[in-house]
Amino acid sequence: MKSKLVLPMLTVLVPREAERDETRVASTPEVIKRLAKRGITCLVERGAGLASGFPDEGYAEAGAQLLEPGDREAWSHAQVLLTVGNPGENFHHLKEGTLLIGQLAPHGNQALMGQLENRGLSAIALELLPRISRAQSMDVLSSQANIAGYKAVLLAAAQLDRFMPMLMTAAGTVQPARVLVIGAGVAGLQAVATARRLGALVKVSDVRAAAREQVESLGARFIEPPERGTPGEQGGYAKEATAAFLEAQRQQLAEHLLDCDIVICTAQVPGRPAPLLLTRELTGLLRPGAVVVDLAVAQGGNCELSVAGETVNHNGVLVIGADRLPASVAHHASSLYSRNLGALLEVLVTKEGELCLDPKDPLLEPCLISLKGQLLKPELVPALSNGQEVTP
Ligand code: NAI
Repeated sequence: MKSKLVLPMLTVLVPREAERDETRVASTPEVIKRLAKRGITCLVERGAGLASGFPDEGYAEAGAQLLEPGDREAWSHAQVLLTVGNPGENFHHLKEGTLLIGQLAPHGNQALMGQLENRGLSAIALELLPRISRAQSMDVLSSQANIAGYKAVLLAAAQLDRFMPMLMTAAGTVQPARVLVIGAGVAGLQAVATARRLGALVKVSDVRAAAREQVESLGARFIEPPERGTPGEQGGYAKEATAAFLEAQRQQLAEHLLDCDIVICTAQVPGRPAPLLLTRELTGLLRPGAVVVDLAVAQGGNCELSVAGETVNHNGVLVIGADRLPASVAHHASSLYSRNLGALLEVLVTKEGELCLDPKDPLLEPCLISLKGQLLKPELVPALSNGQEVTP
């Protein structure tokens, strides 16, 4: 195990995101102000917050120095780079020992590991933060999934050919929409809460026994998973289900699809493909006019027909491959993400303003994937660890 790394007074850089469609920013003026008060030098690329409603002036007022985008010299001074996604080409401008913090999509990402190793970088992959009490305020997966669950229901409601609530009108009574939510994690529970607020009747399928109480407390009905071969859980996450279990689950879901108006798909297993639950055949059981929103599309999708970023019309059923929903609520998504990162930096930076990375700290052990170029989690990329299994 590597010994801990201590860096003197910090310079933090917030770039424009490398990915063209990314509207979020990793740090907002609110958090920059807190960091600047602690004596941390904050460099922000001009325009970094524009797409999320945070203009340059706000950063300058908060104490940041504004840079021209891609200013190589400034990048070479950064000791910490705060990003939403992968920094892309800009990796080349970072000096050895720089700490990269972001959602780096490390599972199976050999290119990322190569860049970290070759350039001697340290990196925290926020997807791998442990789900422990100490890390709750830093949990970007939760803050962003919460937004995705909310927006998924709004997208579906906007496309639906019916009302969501029950309405009693002079022209007669309209029955409430029926919503099926698959997966009762953070996104799924927010989808349940949002659909309930809009007046829909909601059913939920999950494989974790603990989900029942949470689902019922939101006024929804829990669909008990098939008894045989329930996958169990590890660290609060569902384990991967067997093919036989998924087949039994699909048979069970079929009856619930017949009278369903909206299906919100959120079922995932960390580091594995999302379970395929809505086959083409099962999707065909939905009535024309029904809407499926698949939030698991980036992991392969819960619905066989979903395509990332597209809406597919299958015999009148709309299947929305919703892979970028947090970015569609860019202002609040950035605010929450930024506060998550601010909370993490509070822990990593000492009172003296030094950055302290201790790989033995239970907070960092799962998510510090590289320390000055030494890869600490080679098992995330099977090719680097002789095919060893990935454990979340
Ligand atoms: P996730 O995004 O990994 O998965 C979403 C949901 O899909 C999970 O509830 C999972 O059980 C479910 N799922 C997997 N396979 C399924 C299948 N075949 N059929 C139906 N559902 C299936 O989960 P997320 O949102 O990251 O939450 C995972 C757990 O972590 C939850 O128990 C959540 O309450 C817990 N959590 C704990 C936190 C903390 O302690 N700080 C913070 C956030 C979440």
